[in-house]
Amino acid sequence: MSESFTKSGLSIPSIGLGTGNMYGSSCRRIVQEALELGYRHIDGASMYENEHEVGQGLNYSQVDREKVFITTKINTTGFFPSKGNGPQLKNSDIKKSFEKSLSDLQTEYVDLLLIHWPIFETNLGDMLEILYRLKDDKKIKEVGVANFNSQLLNECSDLGFKNIFCNQVEYHPFLSQAKLLETMQDLDVIPIAYCPLCKGDVSRHDVLINLAEKYSKTPAQITLRWLYQQKVVSIPKTENTYRLKENIDIFDFEIDNKDMLQINTLERNQRIVPNLELNESKYPFD
Ligand SMILES: NC(=O)c1ccc[n+]([C@@H]2O[C@H](COP(=O)([O-])OP(=O)(O)OC[C@H]3O[C@@H](n4cnc5c(N)ncnc54)[C@H](OP(=O)(O)O)[C@@H]3O)[C@@H](O)[C@H]2O)c1
Repeated sequence: MSESFTKSGLSIPSIGLGTGNMYGSSCRRIVQEALELGYRHIDGASMYENEHEVGQGLNYSQVDREKVFITTKINTTGFFPSKGNGPQLKNSDIKKSFEKSLSDLQTEYVDLLLIHWPIFETNLGDMLEILYRLKDDKKIKEVGVANFNSQLLNECSDLGFKNIFCNQVEYHPFLSQAKLLETMQDLDVIPIAYCPLCKGDVSRHDVLINLAEKYSKTPAQITLRWLYQQKVVSIPKTENTYRLKENIDIFDFEIDNKDMLQINTLERNQRIVPNLELNESKYPFD
C-alpha cells in the first residue's frame, strides 16, 4: 500500500497508476490487478479514450469505490483555435467532457479533476469557476491543473483560486523542475510527476543501476523513491504485473542525502512531452 500526502483534508496516495496509452482488455486487467495489489490511486483522462475500460477494471476489483483516489482531466487539447484544430472551448464542452468521464468510469464522483493543458483562448477564471462549481455539487473532491508553469499558477492565485490541489507535470531525474517545484511549494500546490520513469529510460542509466545495487532495489524503485522523498506524487504506467508490484514497493528503504544529491546531477533537460503551445516564448515550460 502506498503512503499518502494530504492537503485540505484530502489524502492522495503518493504512487498512482498512470493509464495513458493503455487500451481494451489490457487496460481493464491492469487496473483491476493494480487495485488487487494495493494501488489506491488511478490517474486517467478523458483524452486517453479508455475511461470505460478503467471503470470496468475498478468495478471488477473487489475494492470499494471510496477507497480509491480517481483522477480525470478535462480534455482541453482538442481546442486550440490558434493551431486551427478546434473551435473555442465552451463551458458546455467542459461539462460534457466531465459528464462523459463520470459515465465511462461508472462513478458518481472523482477525487480530482484537472485542466489537462492550459488553454489561452478560454478565460482561466471562468474555467476554474466551472470546476469549483462541480466541487460545490460534490461531483469532485478537488480541482487541480496540469502542465501549468509558474506564471499560470500565480495567475490562479491572483484570480482568487488559492487552493489549487496539484499541478501535474513531467518530472524525472533527467529533467530538473527546480523553479516550478519552488513555485508549487510557495503556493502549497502538490507536485505530481508524470513520465516519472522517463518512459523506462531510468532503467538504463549507470548511476541509477549502481544505486539500485547498493539499496537492493531496481533503478525504477530508486527513481520513484527519489520523487517520494521530495514529497512528489508519481503516476508510473505499466502493463506488466511484475512491474506493478515493483513500482509500489518503495516504502521500505530510504535514499541517503548524498545519493539524493547525486540523482539531482543526472539532469540533462530531457523532455518527453512537447509544449502544446507552439509559441514557447509565450508559454515557457517553467
Ligand atoms: N498530464 C499530462 O499531460 C500527462 C502527460 C503524459 C503522461 N501523463 C500520465 O502519466 C502517466 C505515466 O507517464 P508515461 O506512461 O508517459 O511514462 P512513465 O510512467 O515514465 O513510463 C512508462 C514506460 O515505462 C515502462 N515501465 C514501467 N515500469 C517500469 C519499471 N519498473 N522498469 C522499467 N520500465 C518500466 C513501461 O513499460 P511497460 O508498460 O511495458 O511496463 C512504459 O513503457 C501516464 O500513463 C499518464 O497517466 C500525463
